[in-house]
Amino acid sequence: MPTINDNFLKLKAGYLFPEIARRVAAFQAENPDAKIIKLGIGDVTEPLPEACIIAMHKAVDDQSKRGTFHGYGPEQGYAWLREKIVEHDYAARGCDIAADEIFVSDGSKCDTGNILDILAPGGGPRGNIIAVCDPVYPVYVDTNVMRGNTGPAGDAGEYGGLVYLPMTAENGFNPPLPEGKVDVIYLCFPNNPTGAVAPKAVLEAYVQYALKHDALILFDAAYEAFITDPRIPHSIYEIDGAKECAIEFRSFSKNAGFTGTRCAFTVVPKGVTGLSGSGERVGLHRLWNRRQTTKFNGVSYIVQRGAEAVYSEAGGEQVRDLVDFYLANARLITKALTEAGMEVFGGVNAPYVWVKAPDGGTSWEFFDLLLREAHVVGTPGSGFGAAGEGYFRISAFNSRDAVQRAMERIGDQLLT
Ligand code: MLT
Repeated sequence: MPTINDNFLKLKAGYLFPEIARRVAAFQAENPDAKIIKLGIGDVTEPLPEACIIAMHKAVDDQSKRGTFHGYGPEQGYAWLREKIVEHDYAARGCDIAADEIFVSDGSKCDTGNILDILAPGGGPRGNIIAVCDPVYPVYVDTNVMRGNTGPAGDAGEYGGLVYLPMTAENGFNPPLPEGKVDVIYLCFPNNPTGAVAPKAVLEAYVQYALKHDALILFDAAYEAFITDPRIPHSIYEIDGAKECAIEFRSFSKNAGFTGTRCAFTVVPKGVTGLSGSGERVGLHRLWNRRQTTKFNGVSYIVQRGAEAVYSEAGGEQVRDLVDFYLANARLITKALTEAGMEVFGGVNAPYVWVKAPDGGTSWEFFDLLLREAHVVGTPGSGFGAAGEGYFRISAFNSRDAVQRAMERIGDQLLT
């Protein structure tokens, strides 16, 4: 009989979004006429940019002919895409990133989980102390639990584990630096779930901390396209020293609507290192390259051509329109809820609005209330961590009509 990875038994029963889907399906089964509006999971609803569609159609034609047909591509992604990424996402912002430091992949969710393959597992003397924000994108926590990065009570212990950096209204959703020494720090800005952004000074403090303590920053910038404030950095590499201590995750999911098309990339600068068992400093770039070339065969040619079109002139404009569309939804949500007397955060530089549950209620109470009375689905803040209790996340990813109807229902039926 095979033995199992017991760490899986330490996970909460279900991942947050399937659990919400389960509850919504049960409600729908009992109330078949209810027209449920989903503002829960951050999944896009609008069609792909025209430029991406044209590029992918052409790529399908390429695959139909000898001479332009492509089999396996480079595991790291085609050079033409990696070079465009460097030019538009990094050089244009003064960041000195090389094309061979970009690893194209099929999603940031996978990459943020898979990165743990190249770090020492927990449960032994070389286990890492890992800092995550609270509330947090649950993938960071769950993948660390799977990897054994938990202390006796699910937190940090002698052999590594998780420590939590609270992001609250009181600290302006700026996570405080870890109190002691940690080895790895996950940061996500613009933040999922609070919609907060990190001012440059906050990121500078983190990079300084990482350099001083030899820590690794895992920077998730999947929502960078939603930044509207010109003072806010889009990339951790806009901060001096970050190339020595940070890995960055980017995605085409939220800017170009690729959630169902799948394309993302991870930047692993050659200067970022970790410690081997024999005390040697080893470049993480080499390890990630080894990991990807062994376990991953690259993103499809067709999809990479679609992603490349994001960087064309037309593609850039169409992506801007899509992002503006969702940001306008976020403004609409913020306005409606504020007028209804609720305390609202985020939604300005991010597609998520973070709302305080009324009357001191819990997150799940507010979830049930909204579903029952308004047939609107959001995400309970407590699903993102203890500090999210009493909050609720509303996603701006839906059609204008759906958002408007949801806000009318919340305003009319619930809060008046
Ligand atoms: C979310 O709702 O938090 C997002 O869908 C997360 C993701 O992109 O995986």
